[in-house]
Amino acid sequence: MAIHKPRASERDPWRVLLVLLIPAVCTAMASAAVVEHTFYVGGMGISQLCMNSVVYTANQQLPGPTVEVSEGDTLVVHVVNGSPYPISLHWHGIFQLQSGWADGANMITQCPIQPSARFTYVFKVTGQEGTLWWHAHASMLRATIYGALIIKPRSGGYPFPPPHAEIPILLGEWWNRNVDDVEKDGLLTGLGPAKSDAFTINGSPGDQAPCGGAGMFQVEVESGRTYLLRIINAAVNAELFFRVAGHAFTVVAADASYTDPHPTDVIVVAPGQTVDALMAAAAAPGRYYMAARAFESATASTPPPFDTTSATAVLRYKGVPDYAPAAMPALPPYADVVTAARFYWSLTGLVRPGDPVVPKTVDHSLVVAFGLEQASCAPDQTRCQRFSVLASMNRRSFQFPEKVSLLEALFRGVPNVYSEDFPGWPAPAATRKATSVRKVNYNDVVEVVLQNEGYSRALGTANHPIHLHGFNFFVLAQGLGRFDPRMRSTYNLVNPQVRNTVAVPAGGWAVIRFTANNPGMWFMHCHLDSHLPLGLAMVFEVLNGPAPNLLPPPPADYPKCH
Ligand code: C2O
Repeated sequence: MAIHKPRASERDPWRVLLVLLIPAVCTAMASAAVVEHTFYVGGMGISQLCMNSVVYTANQQLPGPTVEVSEGDTLVVHVVNGSPYPISLHWHGIFQLQSGWADGANMITQCPIQPSARFTYVFKVTGQEGTLWWHAHASMLRATIYGALIIKPRSGGYPFPPPHAEIPILLGEWWNRNVDDVEKDGLLTGLGPAKSDAFTINGSPGDQAPCGGAGMFQVEVESGRTYLLRIINAAVNAELFFRVAGHAFTVVAADASYTDPHPTDVIVVAPGQTVDALMAAAAAPGRYYMAARAFESATASTPPPFDTTSATAVLRYKGVPDYAPAAMPALPPYADVVTAARFYWSLTGLVRPGDPVVPKTVDHSLVVAFGLEQASCAPDQTRCQRFSVLASMNRRSFQFPEKVSLLEALFRGVPNVYSEDFPGWPAPAATRKATSVRKVNYNDVVEVVLQNEGYSRALGTANHPIHLHGFNFFVLAQGLGRFDPRMRSTYNLVNPQVRNTVAVPAGGWAVIRFTANNPGMWFMHCHLDSHLPLGLAMVFEVLNGPAPNLLPPPPADYPKCH
């Protein structure tokens, strides 16, 4: 049994309790380990883009601590909230099999951890390996509260040649203003948050941004070696292009699911998604920029309604001095839908013996249409002029419950918190605000045609990366325009890519299929944070199966609702 060695800064008052607990857990799990962290969420001074500001981070790190486990391990994260904001932490892409209470979706699976309160997330990481991440799931705080969550294979190694080293690349998004204020302003105007001031690579905008150079990420490579880049799009509101000057990649995984090797020199990654790519250090020894900037199909208006800056970092060959000039990669134009689609659509899943296969019969076949629309100003939108923006799925604009989380309401049978009437079809009707969920039985197979309705110059961003909590799904087909049922004959049922987040382009569609093998309340939403408070979300309610496939009772320290 191995235990992750807590850092000195991770002093933990409950260590005693854990020491008592661990032996019991370990006998049940043979060689699996318990990996334990403590995250102190609090203010951190930082100087970025010629400004000194205070942001909220975990353990005074931006990005936050990397969590590394092996498949089969149990992860224990004590979260101490030293910030003035109620928070929750989500383990993005983790199945949370029978541990839905630890999913961290604010008001969906828990009430938030109040300022000066604490909560311990405990869950087992089973049946998945690769690159995932964790992030705050309340307000826009995930702009600075996020980190990598890396799951190593328990045995047998990777299904590709072992890399010399692994390099996590966390792409982020930066605002000079306090992000909670940015979000509140967006709610008052009814138009969503103002655009960001920079993108970041491993926390820094890089030296192409004004005063951005100080903390620029720089990594040394050796000629002839191969590196595994674990690329995570932790940006709040933007899909991103990513390139490294003079270097090409072989994609080997996405969203912690292996893919067939896919050669490319540009990577496209939507918020919530991850891409694992092998990169050979095969260029002439030198310094090379890696760079990221927005992929945004709605670029018609002037000035563009999105952040047009590029984040940079540097790859330096061993022996090359720090001051050597670096080559900059040519990034695709912002609106390069063709490059994005070619990347997103050409990945296929690596099929290995024992992996889940595409279920052939479907119990629930849904069409979910989503987008943004203009709405009248609400009374509480005190800075709203003329109109506000409303988002919806099948004409239901998702409302978060206020008194109790959906999961607790399900477990305790609390009435009048949600309705089980989420429509399976975008029936023509006026959009209304509702907390409506779609109920499915344990182990039902659910297929969803995700139809992005909108291309709206007036309303800005129209790409929608749709993320499903609690499950991976197979992406059976993707396209532009309106989904045509005749496309069913083109579904890839053999080796589709497996993901937890699919980027559905402006006016495009994707078909996903998953088995609802996990009882609980599972959020499905647009992973652009600006669209979440506008209502671009719904929830799958998955009922208990035959024992032991049950949702257990909540943990003893489950946060109280206020
Ligand atoms: Cu990474 Cu509900 O999201």
